[in-house]
Amino acid sequence: MSHFCPVYPKPRQQKASIWSLFRSARVSWMESLYERSYRMEMGEVHLPGHHLYMVNDPAVVKQVMNDASGNFPKSELLADALRPLLGDSIFTTNGAQWQRQRNMMDPAFGQTKLDVAFPAMWAATQDMLVRLGKLADDGAQPDIEIEMTHVTADIIFRTIFSEPITGDAAQRIFEAFARFQSIAPKLLLPSLYGIKWLVWPWDVWRSRRAAAEIRGLLASLVRPRYDALQKGENSGKDDILAAFMTARDPATGAPFGFDELVDQVGMLFLAGHETSASALTWSAHLLANAPDIQHRMHEESLAVLGASAPKQSDMKSLDLTRNVFREALRLFPPVGFMARESTQSCPMRDKTVPAGSSIVVSPWLIQRHRSRWAEPDAFNPDRYDNDESREALRTAYLPFGMGPRVCMGAAFALQEATLILACLARDFRLEPVVGHVPQPVGRLTIRSANGVKVKLFRRQAA
Ligand code: HEM
Repeated sequence: MSHFCPVYPKPRQQKASIWSLFRSARVSWMESLYERSYRMEMGEVHLPGHHLYMVNDPAVVKQVMNDASGNFPKSELLADALRPLLGDSIFTTNGAQWQRQRNMMDPAFGQTKLDVAFPAMWAATQDMLVRLGKLADDGAQPDIEIEMTHVTADIIFRTIFSEPITGDAAQRIFEAFARFQSIAPKLLLPSLYGIKWLVWPWDVWRSRRAAAEIRGLLASLVRPRYDALQKGENSGKDDILAAFMTARDPATGAPFGFDELVDQVGMLFLAGHETSASALTWSAHLLANAPDIQHRMHEESLAVLGASAPKQSDMKSLDLTRNVFREALRLFPPVGFMARESTQSCPMRDKTVPAGSSIVVSPWLIQRHRSRWAEPDAFNPDRYDNDESREALRTAYLPFGMGPRVCMGAAFALQEATLILACLARDFRLEPVVGHVPQPVGRLTIRSANGVKVKLFRRQAA
């Protein structure tokens, strides 16, 4: 059986000058990749004063990602580009500061919190189904990326603040994030290569302005709850903000201060919706182009959910739905690359990597690696049920990262995605729009330069 292979930027066949690479990478880092990037075990780029290593070899990936001794902290260069938005949040900090934050935040993502989050996920999904129904009735060909960003932002907003994303402040946050996201690639790559002077001051100014607006708006939402808690008033809300405000440093018993709290909330809003939105958008594109799989998913969701409101316990029975999402995460990992820094000179394969080098681990490359995956570019959700993929899954699949910095929201993301996709497949049929071919670009996450348009049709049962 032949499988759908989604389009992605054609890898370069020949060596290009570093300047031409940077010019195209200002639009998307994917444009700087070569065909051999998908075959190699380790590659390197040397610039005056800075070295960058790209590692695909599973043993080296483990060496870097599982390191617990602090030899490979998160890249300070990349953190710098994100700091105006994320401040000193858990996504960018290192060492003792990161460990303290992780200890304080982990409990907000345990199983019991997933149970609490489910009704918020379902409420936001229901609103999405109503919006999609209207679009289908109008015969529109919506950009599904807009809808997926809306529903995931709504979910994370409801789970942080116990409110839907309908107010004026929420909408402004949503729009400012879109602006920040569009400028991000112009900042990230030069930062990673240690050549920040290549970034235009205008782009820096625009990204700082968007970040300041987002932080100001988030702070205005956190402030009343924070002040009330200081006065001993209990909001009675069981949301992530409440969990963060009552979290205590296990060593000192101290809570987060106000600014640090806003840092964490901003980071969580970004990490908690941008990534899921990207993966769900690509899932919809893949399903629209694989009618047989879509049909099987429809049957599965009808059998498991029936026509009634989904229950959290249904999620574990949606096997094909979960495999579709896993396969979308393989082909379009939202976090396309992870950057670390070597604090000291160290051996890697047959090389000595100097201290201060950037080390890049790219799920995008590893999960399409030619010698680890059969049909690496093909959409085949059934591969997760066959023994052949077991080794690749174990060694070459890391959409949520790995090691101590592994994604804190992986279970949260899987739960919301399974729910959204199962409801989508139960109530609607998706078809591609003739002549529209989404073009993947690497921004903060992997998005499409020209949107992802689909045709939507209501199913009988909807
Ligand atoms: C499909 C959805 C998602 C994907 C693919 C994803 C992927 C990742 C990856 C790859 C990392 C590690 C980055 C690195 O090591 O440099 C990460 C970290 C993180 N993610 Fe996610 N993520 C997703 C959804 C979420 C959600 C829904 C949340 C929260 C509700 C979340 C919260 C976080 C946090 C807090 C970290 C930082 C953990 C740390 O550094 O200790 N993510 N995510």
